[in-house]
Amino acid sequence: MTTIAFTSALDGGPSGDAAFGHVSSGGLDTSHGAILYLENVSVSFDGFQALKDLSLSIDVGELRCVIGPNGAGKTTMMDVITGKTRPDAGSAFFGQTIDLTRLTEAEIAQAGIGRKFQKPTIFEQHSVFENLELAMKADKRVRRTLFARLSSEERDRIAAMLERVRLAESADRPAGLLSHGQKQWLEIAMLLMQEPKLLLLDEPVAGMSDEETERTADLFLSLAGKHSLVVVEHDMAFVASIARKVTVLHEGSVLAEGPHEQVQNDPRVIEVYLGR
Ligand SMILES: Nc1ncnc2c1ncn2[C@@H]1O[C@H](COP(=O)(O)OP(=O)(O)OP(=O)(O)O)[C@@H](O)[C@H]1O
Ligand SMILES: [Mg+2]
Repeated sequence: MTTIAFTSALDGGPSGDAAFGHVSSGGLDTSHGAILYLENVSVSFDGFQALKDLSLSIDVGELRCVIGPNGAGKTTMMDVITGKTRPDAGSAFFGQTIDLTRLTEAEIAQAGIGRKFQKPTIFEQHSVFENLELAMKADKRVRRTLFARLSSEERDRIAAMLERVRLAESADRPAGLLSHGQKQWLEIAMLLMQEPKLLLLDEPVAGMSDEETERTADLFLSLAGKHSLVVVEHDMAFVASIARKVTVLHEGSVLAEGPHEQVQNDPRVIEVYLGR
């Protein structure tokens, strides 16, 4: 029989945490309270500066919203954090000690940073349950084989995750038959199976119905504290419904940052949005 073993480079221990974990410290030094630090990050593409001296820090367990007009650099910021784009200058640290600019994309994912892209990358022909099973078995922190039977503990973990993202009733349906919003939740659930410490979500409610958007807000609020989240969104009603602290990017730098009400009433922010 062919088996595919996934072994771990960064974390040899088995993943025995409860399904939704906590912001665990395995290898990550968050003793100063922050999980992510960007300092004076600059990125240019053919002379065009997409990020200019961008500095930002995210606290452990925080739910941060990042807003800003099109082209402000929001996606580029996520590309830097996940190692997809290397900054020309500045630093990006995960906790106190992990220099993200020196790790590959795979190593960054393994270190505990999960990213949700706009287009869901689910396995459409497989059932919803199987999608979570595959996500769990792809978890590189755990040595296991792709064709091993699920333990009852693992089944429970998947079932609990399906409850959490309101897909329990669709467990046996092919993922391709889910609504747009449900597919997004499935992808989030797949990311959560790997217990990321930091989760980056780029425009997660784009294309969702109002009801799906509200449910997504509830989900994110329930994840905060256990995970740290950075959510980029244009949907201001959604941002208002989940936001505590908001960062406004404009032309590659932080234009304003603070509690949602404060940022919303900041004349510079209003000008940037009205001037679109
Ligand atoms: N690979 C690339 N090559 C050249 N220019 C790029 C590249 N990636 C991004 N840019 C440019 O950098 C700027 C910032 O883009 P980015 O995608 O980060 O903005 P954004 O804030 O995510 O915008 P949106 O809200 O539209 O998603 C844009 O002007 C974009 O055209
Ligand atoms: Mg973008």
